Amino acid sequence: MIKFIDIEFGSTRYKELLDLRYKILLQPLGLKFLDSYREEEATFLHIGCIESSTDELIGGLILVPIDDEEIRVMQVAVDTVHQGEGIGKKLIKHAETIAKKIGYERIVMHAMLSVVSFYEKQGYKQDSDLFEEKGISFIRMVKDL
Ligand SMILES: CC(C)(COP(=O)(O)OP(=O)(O)OC[C@H]1O[C@@H](n2cnc3c(N)ncnc32)[C@H](O)[C@@H]1OP(=O)(O)O)[C@@H](O)C(=O)NCCC(=O)NCCS
Repeated sequence: MIKFIDIEFGSTRYKELLDLRYKILLQPLGLKFLDSYREEEATFLHIGCIESSTDELIGGLILVPIDDEEIRVMQVAVDTVHQGEGIGKKLIKHAETIAKKIGYERIVMHAMLSVVSFYEKQGYKQDSDLFEEKGISFIRMVKDL
């Protein structure tokens, strides 16, 4: 059984989520966390996925408000051993439910090419040409809530 939790910035769970994000998202690309960016994260919503039987954090993401209508999902990560079990799909669904509940009309993301079809399966549409950030190619994707 899995459950989703809100994670408080700076908490022990937040540090676990940072470790997971580093392992799944940054390390494979040879990137590091910038301290300045971490401070900015105090204003973001942090969501974790917990395996109830072990209390282990196995996935997570961040929601970043852009304006009154739009919120951006970032740093979507599912632990390697749990990938392909449907957790990413449920995590995105949960993020959409929260975003809608707090009044947002649209969810956006910058998806790496390797995950564009994962998001298309969740109803996201490509909304830009390919662009580069830190040498990595992304496509902006959107979904109306
Ligand atoms: C991408 C990621 C979040 C997907 O989560 P997941 O739990 O492995 O995916 P799910 O098991 O929920 O898959 C849901 C569906 O998407 C498909 N899918 C999963 N990863 C995919 C990928 N990279 N490309 C295309 N389809 C994918 C699955 O086959 C499944 O299809 P189905 O509904 O037809 O059976 C996860 O694999 C991950 O953390 N990857 C590494 C980090 C990453 O790339 N994050 C995204 C940053 S933009």
